[in-house]
Amino acid sequence: MNMSKKTVRDIVKMKGSEKIAMITAYDYITARLVDGAGVDIILVGDSAGMVVHGFESTHPVSMDMMLLHVSSVARAKPRALVVGDMPFLSYETSIEDAVWNAGLMIKSGAEAVKIEGGSEYADVVKAIVRAGIPVMGHIGLNPQRALLIGGYRKRGLSDVERERIIEDARELEKAGAFSIVIEYTAADVAEEVTKEVSVPTICIGSGPYCDGQVLVIHDILGLTPTPPPFAKKYADLSSIIKSCVGKYVEEVKKGLFPSREHYFYSYERKHSSSST
Ligand code: KIV
Repeated sequence: MNMSKKTVRDIVKMKGSEKIAMITAYDYITARLVDGAGVDIILVGDSAGMVVHGFESTHPVSMDMMLLHVSSVARAKPRALVVGDMPFLSYETSIEDAVWNAGLMIKSGAEAVKIEGGSEYADVVKAIVRAGIPVMGHIGLNPQRALLIGGYRKRGLSDVERERIIEDARELEKAGAFSIVIEYTAADVAEEVTKEVSVPTICIGSGPYCDGQVLVIHDILGLTPTPPPFAKKYADLSSIIKSCVGKYVEEVKKGLFPSREHYFYSYERKHSSSST
């Protein structure tokens, strides 16, 4: 495994030669763990709003929340590229807002930003890239537009949608996006997009033909009560956590914890090398 720091250039070069593995993380410890496991990209997703903060959608997520998550992940100094997700209303209101907020992501430790939307945000992508900030696009299902499109529904099933998604990808590439996430879109459409653009595509729920895959960490660890249908559960951490904490509660109630190695007496001070 190549252990050098992943850059945007490295990610672009992976198209056609090596699949890209991207996963979300929202804090220092998780970032260290997923980085140690060899991911290429850590996405500090606005999915934090749902899986960490318990909101029902990503709409309530603010820049302040995202900056806290981004800086926490960045302190892990991961080898993987750190991408900060631009939350709802951080880039839609004006080009100035978009560039400013993308800049705040970089100042907090992100090395690129992700923006939901296709050709309608090409000017925004262009302006952010002009400011020197790499942009990852996000097409197909855009959860931030769920109210407009009728919920979290499959994309690319009609000819109109298919053409729109392919056009969105072309426009994002032209605007300077270095990669494009394709969410919950028919696999054949994602395949066509992948062939159509020269930048890497990264699928979530859009089949095997993209240049990479991304999933939400809580979904693969079995921590999400209602994971999306396309997520694969690699572990059942919910059961493990419940069992560990249950044991702790039981031991506290029975007076079994703490045991002798977990506490000290004042008269041990003279003999302890760690006392000050
Ligand atoms: O916020 C997020 O986690 C995302 C992924 C689902 C791509 O945008």
